[in-house]
Amino acid sequence: MEKDLYIMGIETSCDETAVAIIKNGTEIVANVVASQIESHKRFGGVVPEIASRHHVEQMTIVFEEAMQQANLSLNQLDAIAVTEGPGLVGALLIGVNAAKAIAFAHNIPLVAVHHIAGHIYANRLVEEMKFPSLSLVVSGGHTELVYMKEHGHFQVIGETRDDAAGEAYDKVARVLNLPYPGGPHIDRLAHEGEPTIDLPRAWLENDSYDFSFSGLKSAVINTVHNFAQRGEEIAPENLAASFQQSVIEVLVTKAVRAAKEYEVKQILLAGGVAANKGLRAALKEAFLKLPTVELVIPPLSLCTDNAAMIAAAGTIMYEKGQRADLALNANPGLDLEIHN
Ligand code: KG4
Ligand code: ZN
Repeated sequence: MEKDLYIMGIETSCDETAVAIIKNGTEIVANVVASQIESHKRFGGVVPEIASRHHVEQMTIVFEEAMQQANLSLNQLDAIAVTEGPGLVGALLIGVNAAKAIAFAHNIPLVAVHHIAGHIYANRLVEEMKFPSLSLVVSGGHTELVYMKEHGHFQVIGETRDDAAGEAYDKVARVLNLPYPGGPHIDRLAHEGEPTIDLPRAWLENDSYDFSFSGLKSAVINTVHNFAQRGEEIAPENLAASFQQSVIEVLVTKAVRAAKEYEVKQILLAGGVAANKGLRAALKEAFLKLPTVELVIPPLSLCTDNAAMIAAAGTIMYEKGQRADLALNANPGLDLEIHN
């Protein structure tokens, strides 16, 4: 019988301090996430210095809780996988240094993971991955369509040219005086309203798979100002519904077109915006009409930042023989395709 493989994941790229351990690539044996959202709320967004300080305070506690949940000793871990980037440099550094310290002290191999690879591999915790696949990555920092011909091989076929989808949600929420992070609030409001306001959709030139959300964001801000100038009340639920419809229509249309063109077997949803109820429903409806493509949507807890996804991606990197050494540094601008 083959020995079980235990990989620890460490994630600190933004405002979640997370440590997880997974067994044989797919089974979660520990998954601890300490969110800092409450500390950043009053600033309307993540404050990098505050994020770093919280990571320092939380790291040991979260690590010890994960070890306790898993009921393992450190010498049973086969590798420590850590988010190398992209993200906030000061935040990433805490995770990278924690991982290096554990790896060095206990002589455990170290594996560096791309944050988006992690988001994509959250899907492997719920469904066996089939190739070729297409991932729709929608988070606070990224909006990408990623083609994979095999495990660990990422090709970005489309990405945002300005704001990420989650960023657009958070900025529009601010205009509507909703708390940070605004995505869930817009999502909730959108279901109470009707898309009565005409807003643009950025399809971009030559059937591009790229995205752009800054024009839509500006259109929302202009609409709010125009209503105010005319002394009219704007129904926030209708504005939210109109905004959400515009975002979802572009995301789903491009995902369907790419899935057909690249003849993929699976479409994987990834990133914090994957929690959006409207997006989940629209994707389900669209891919019902495309039965050759299996749609996989992870549960909400695996869509937002967590370390189980980092351990899942780390397992693949580990099995492919990738190792980082103790010179590993945080890389806030890390390229996904470099892992090819
Ligand atoms: O992946 P994530 O946790 O962090 C990043 O790596 O960026 O994504 C966070 C983003 C935030 O912008 C948040 O507003 C958005 O995901 N989000 C949502 C929803 N839940 C979270 N956006 C739209 N609808 C939601 N239900
Ligand atoms: Zn993320």
